[in-house]
Amino acid sequence: MSTIENQTEAADWLQSVRWNSADNRLDLLDQRLLPDEIIYLPLVTSEQVWDAIKQLAVRGAPAIGISAAFGVYLGVRDASGGREQLLEETVKQCDYLATSRPTAVNLFWALDRMKQRAQELASEGGEPEAMKQVLLDEAKLIQSEDEETCRLIGEHGLSLFEDGMGVLTHCNAGGLATARYGTALAPMYLALERGMHLKVYADETRPVLQGARLTAFELQQAGVDVTLICDNMAGAVMSKGWVQAVIVGTDRVAANGDVANKIGTYSVAVLAKAHGIPFYVACPISTIDMNTPTGGDIPIEERHEDEITQGFGKRTAPQGIKVYNPAFDVTPNEYVTAIITEKGIIQAPFEENLKKLFAQA
Ligand code: MRU
Repeated sequence: MSTIENQTEAADWLQSVRWNSADNRLDLLDQRLLPDEIIYLPLVTSEQVWDAIKQLAVRGAPAIGISAAFGVYLGVRDASGGREQLLEETVKQCDYLATSRPTAVNLFWALDRMKQRAQELASEGGEPEAMKQVLLDEAKLIQSEDEETCRLIGEHGLSLFEDGMGVLTHCNAGGLATARYGTALAPMYLALERGMHLKVYADETRPVLQGARLTAFELQQAGVDVTLICDNMAGAVMSKGWVQAVIVGTDRVAANGDVANKIGTYSVAVLAKAHGIPFYVACPISTIDMNTPTGGDIPIEERHEDEITQGFGKRTAPQGIKVYNPAFDVTPNEYVTAIITEKGIIQAPFEENLKKLFAQA
């Protein structure tokens, strides 16, 4: 990634993805540096956006999709030629950005939407410069819709919580991972706004520590009562009776309700079941992939061994050790109490109820 610039002006919340109209570029909050530094990466090419997604400068399923949509615009804005060439270039950029990470279906959903928009515009006989502007507007729309979607997820999620409850979450499915509010963290923000007290336990989330660096950070900044725990403490905290609900985000829900999320989520779901604690998954409908029949069909990203052996620059394992580093795991649907979406709360039988949800949409 090329140049960086520091933007430390006070914001009442940290927006992970910002379209900078003045400079016609994408400013991405570099989440690798949180919570120490608040630095936005000024991105002007689709290659920079691809890198930012791959290297986790931006992460979280909805935020990846939003960034990629802006990346498409950055990739085509200087294209020359007629509408058919622009359409071809848009498809090429979408296919390229789709190779950045494999698991979060929101990436492919957002890119398909950009492709479709370009196809519509071309078939309507749009002029290339006007088409480019509409593609930028579509990326902005994906972002603004996500904010509203997350707020609605928060409303539905909050209906499952009561004042004084202990809630455990894993990874970061907060404002940083979305346009605003988050999915799993949205009910926590709405609870705060309404004077309801939730006691949140944030798993630190090895190996990249999204829970410690991002969830603990953003909840603390907002004034939510949050306690950081190591991943291997979740069972102990549950056994003390401190947790009345678990809520997590997801990168992809299969058609049968199996859920892929950050590695370690499955262990938390098993622990929740063992303790009789409901396990909720919060996501926009765009995260539900009816074309993927089961969790076993979800492509799971494997990441570099250095994340485990020398995360954050300090070697903590012997040289040459064999490492297995999947970024996500799959929680089978029988561990899921409910899936909270912007359209309401889905319960088992998931296969049947997800079909109904999509039939209505
Ligand atoms: O590897 P990451 O940090 O992109 O993983 C993110 C998660 O697993 C989130 O829980 C998921 O994307 C949902 S974000 C609303």
